[in-house]
Amino acid sequence: MNFSTQYNKYKNIIDKRLSQVTIYRKPNSVYFPIKYILEGTGKRIRPVITMLACESVCGKNNKSIFAATAVEMLHTFTLVHDDVMDNSSTRRGRKTVHKKWDVNTAILVGDEIIALSYKELLKTSSKNIESILKVFTNGIVKVCEGQALDKEFELRKNVILPEYIKMIDMKTGSMVSSAAEIGGIIGGGNSKEILALRKFGESIGRAFQIQDDLLDAISTKKTFGKEVGNDIISGKKTFLLLHAIKKAKGKDYQLLKSVINKNGTSGKNINKVKEIYKRLGIIEIALKAVKNEISIACRHLNKLPASKSREMLFWFASTLLQRKF
Ligand code: IPE
Ligand code: IPE
Ligand code: MG
Ligand code: MG
Ligand code: MG
Repeated sequence: MNFSTQYNKYKNIIDKRLSQVTIYRKPNSVYFPIKYILEGTGKRIRPVITMLACESVCGKNNKSIFAATAVEMLHTFTLVHDDVMDNSSTRRGRKTVHKKWDVNTAILVGDEIIALSYKELLKTSSKNIESILKVFTNGIVKVCEGQALDKEFELRKNVILPEYIKMIDMKTGSMVSSAAEIGGIIGGGNSKEILALRKFGESIGRAFQIQDDLLDAISTKKTFGKEVGNDIISGKKTFLLLHAIKKAKGKDYQLLKSVINKNGTSGKNINKVKEIYKRLGIIEIALKAVKNEISIACRHLNKLPASKSREMLFWFASTLLQRKF
């Protein structure tokens, strides 16, 4: 079986489990939207990482299914609330929960998914359940802190790149690194292996968010499944904007500076900003950064014993470069 088929096999396991956890319950006002968002077309990268991480330290991947599902559920909670915070109307090619229903529903759906994700996680049979819970919980704390910084940065005029990196490590990296670490713990990895998996997740998460910033500028709504240009409208201090403002001169500089000073811009400037990114070579800079983080991630994998699952993690990391959505 090639890795791509194998990935789909793991993804199907998670999709199936997600439809089991959302089995019909009342009240409809909360369970319909929960079912809607959990059964949407997510890529399921975090749970697949959990399963592969588990296998890579000689564990059986079926030991990690509940935890992997819990990780995906937790990620989904962050998306529902993130879409409210970012005023986004499309997710996974469909209306966001707060647009299809309303903001109150989205708040409640997010809250309940966190609780359901703990219920799912607690089904894990492992003598290390306490450490697993700790990693999982710390992951949520870090995501919330990262999301707070992301919102603070929308209003700040002087954000610098190291601050951006710290922010994405928290809002995105922490969930990916927790996914990998939890898999390693369930698989019975030693402390060096678990640390290597955590570090792998951190770098993958970083690469993933830089790429997400990039796709917001160069993808299309149809492919990406989310609106494009939203980061520009809301004045997000993305990898692209922070690099572009350092390089831009004259009129370009003035436009980018006005995006920063006015905490965003109107939709009609999206194309102008994208054009500046292209002209100044910012797209290439972002791609290079993604490549670099992926190779750092792979170096961490070298600390794991050689196995088919490790090979698949290498493959997974390298395919991220081609990610289009
Ligand atoms: C979106 O994550 C949020 C980010 C961290 C950029 P994904 O791109 O993994 O979203 P889904 O789960 O596949 O929809
Ligand atoms: C993702 O940041 C972070 C979390 C969901 C926690 P974004 O706001 O860039 O994610 P998308 O682009 O909406 O998926
Ligand atoms: Mg956001
Ligand atoms: Mg968002
Ligand atoms: Mg984004």
